[in-house]
Amino acid sequence: MEKKYLFSPGPTMLPPEVLLKMAEPIMHHREPEFEKLFAEVREGLKYLFQTKNEVLIFTSSGTGAMEGAVSNILSKGDKTLLVRGGKFGERWGEICKAYGIEFIPIDVEWGKAVDVKRVQEILASNPSIRVVYTQASETSTGVMHPIKEIAEIVKKYEQTVLVVDAITGIGVFNIPMDEWGLDLVISGSQKALMLPPGLAFAALSDKAWKLVERSDLPKFYFDFRKELKNAQKNQNAFTPAISLFVGLRESLKLIQREGLEAVFKRHEILAEATRAAVKALGLELYAPDSPSNALTAVKMPEGIQGGKLKNLFFEKFGITVAGGQDQAKGKIIRIAHLGYYERLDMVMVISALEMLLKQLGYPFELGAGVRGAEEILMK
Ligand SMILES: Cc1ncc(COP(=O)(O)O)c(C=O)c1O
Repeated sequence: MEKKYLFSPGPTMLPPEVLLKMAEPIMHHREPEFEKLFAEVREGLKYLFQTKNEVLIFTSSGTGAMEGAVSNILSKGDKTLLVRGGKFGERWGEICKAYGIEFIPIDVEWGKAVDVKRVQEILASNPSIRVVYTQASETSTGVMHPIKEIAEIVKKYEQTVLVVDAITGIGVFNIPMDEWGLDLVISGSQKALMLPPGLAFAALSDKAWKLVERSDLPKFYFDFRKELKNAQKNQNAFTPAISLFVGLRESLKLIQREGLEAVFKRHEILAEATRAAVKALGLELYAPDSPSNALTAVKMPEGIQGGKLKNLFFEKFGITVAGGQDQAKGKIIRIAHLGYYERLDMVMVISALEMLLKQLGYPFELGAGVRGAEEILMK
């Protein structure tokens, strides 16, 4: 018998309630039935993003919303500042480059969070910067950036907005968009929303909408103004991924039933337990100072290659964990705990980690990691 488990930071495992709903016969997206669903989803997303404003929904992967967050709020000649501490921070730069937008990068050592003083200094000497781009959780390194503190700095600049890629932040830890004054928050379906890949989300503050009004960069599919007008009529501009919308209504119901606070707490406990297990095994965290509760990046000990360990997870146990990318390739594995995960899921993945490490000759006492996790999980 072969069972498969996803412990990668997207796509993640799906609840049966969501899977069953998505298997129902498809409805038509211009019928009242879909409009009713859209209205429910709009409200659910506002709850999840903690905003009174509209959350736009695009049928695309998360990067589509990232691109829209460049093409819709910038104009030719605008300058931006971006936090570049991993693969996804780099992506902000790549998108800006594609649109001919000049940017100042803050290069952050992988595994570290951005120093907010750098943001402060650069904005002070370049007050014409129009947008600050960052991640809430940099998935390639397992780092959480200090979003609240960055927002406090950006808020002081009337002409500058803060764009947060919260693709592995929303539904994982608290990012109250309106309360913290975040201007554009992005997420994607295949993470804490417990859905397959295929939907991207973008919520904008009033300050960000003002920039949309003056933006003159080219756009067509990812046109925020067009999508806002349609959303207000419970519609999408184009044919949406209807089955994913049906799943989304269900996953939002699950999140609302559990309650945001409990959802954040669950992620915190699972992340803490994983980190405790890693330390109990004598291994090191890749992001020890500011770890994200979405995933845990584990440094490989001497003589163990991350890619090999990742492959063994799948071969021996049907478990998919993520390896490292670029400069972290072979040096880390990343274990996710965002979305549809519970306490015993973490015990399972840690137990598998122990068995594989033993097989690879890494010295430790069998059970030490599981015990480390259990001590947190029993609290
Ligand atoms: C923080 C972050 N940003 C952006 C993306 C890109 O999303 P997608 O692959 O859905 O385009 C990901 C996906 O892993 C991510 O984790």
